[in-house]
Amino acid sequence: MSKGKVLLVLYKGGEHAKQESKLLGSLENELGIRKFVEDNGYELVSTDDKDPEGSSQVDKELADAEIIITTPFFPAYITRERIAKAPKLKMCITAGVGSDHIDLNAANERKISVIEVTGSNVQSVAEHVIMTMLVLVRNFTAAHQQAIDGSWDIAGIAKDSYDMEGKVFSTIGAGRIGYRVLERLIAFNPKKLLYYDYQELPKDAVDRLKQVSKIFNDNDLEIERVVSLEEMVAASDVVTVNCPLHEKSKGLVNKQLLSHFKDGAWLVNTARGAICVAEDVAEAVENGKLRGYGGDVWYPQPAPKDHPWRSFRNKYGAGNAMTPHVSGTSLDAQARYAAGVKNILESYYTGKHDYRPQDVIVINGDYATKAYGERKK
Ligand code: NAI
Repeated sequence: MSKGKVLLVLYKGGEHAKQESKLLGSLENELGIRKFVEDNGYELVSTDDKDPEGSSQVDKELADAEIIITTPFFPAYITRERIAKAPKLKMCITAGVGSDHIDLNAANERKISVIEVTGSNVQSVAEHVIMTMLVLVRNFTAAHQQAIDGSWDIAGIAKDSYDMEGKVFSTIGAGRIGYRVLERLIAFNPKKLLYYDYQELPKDAVDRLKQVSKIFNDNDLEIERVVSLEEMVAASDVVTVNCPLHEKSKGLVNKQLLSHFKDGAWLVNTARGAICVAEDVAEAVENGKLRGYGGDVWYPQPAPKDHPWRSFRNKYGAGNAMTPHVSGTSLDAQARYAAGVKNILESYYTGKHDYRPQDVIVINGDYATKAYGERKK
């Protein structure tokens, strides 16, 4: 008789999991935790059957699960209704960063802990942000398409292709990912770096960026915190979203904010789909307000076939750099968040509950930070 049930929700790996055993985030490889869970006397149930809510395997298994583990890439949305039907649930673990797929207020009411693996894929996402900026600014996708199609129309690409050098870049949110994006942008010799955040970056963090720019570009780089989001986007050539999804950031990038953007700016969002209003962003690219949008995150996930972000294009037929939520799930990242999940389980099983403070989102009926979304040290 097991001590309790751990429910693990992951995407199916199929052939890919057979090809690559490092694909720990797949259903087949179960984050490499089966033996560990069973050795601790718990039963492990894994499934990719999470939708629709109410009649999926997740709903069935939640009835007596003690722990649920999900990823932001293929999230089982842990709604208030699902929590109400999970009387034994004590902990939700996010294998990754960002626990907005869980109703945190409902979790608090039931004193269910929500713990994630903070920092596990921040470098992976920062790299993806830089890649997406390059893809958009240099007009890579259209050029690559010609290469594999057998065409050779230089003008067709060059008319929508620019340099990163000399541009003004800004980030909404300058935490672990946002800061790493600013850091990596220095390699491109930007004109200016701007950020909008509730909190100021520590002085030594800004000084470090300036020193790097001095060495790398031999200049005194301007790095500025902007208090007005409207002013910041109006001054930027490229804007990137790197804040969490919470009540105040839901729908933040909407028609109204987009009207303040520079004409022909680029927007990159690897944070969460619902921070942007999908129709407004798609329309902004189509009417030329934005030159392009690159996002790695959607709502819901998986996104429906007719989601507006699959079909928008700019007037040149380009400007779409969407990917299905993959930025934070490189094989290197998978190894890190799988190890992080194991550590969280270990802390739970030993009864110590000595989680890394930065991993704790809610615990004992309360938010670990004053407001979720503030910088977790
Ligand atoms: P972090 O907690 O280190 O930094 C978040 C920053 O955003 C903090 O400095 C905070 O003060 C700021 N912030 C909060 N609300 C804001 C708002 N409304 N406007 C401006 N700034 C705001 O988090 P980290 O690790 O940098 O991750 C950020 C987000 O990126 C996560 O919450 C998650 O949603 C997303 N993410 C996406 C991944 C992917 O695979 N695409 C992987 C990892 C994270």
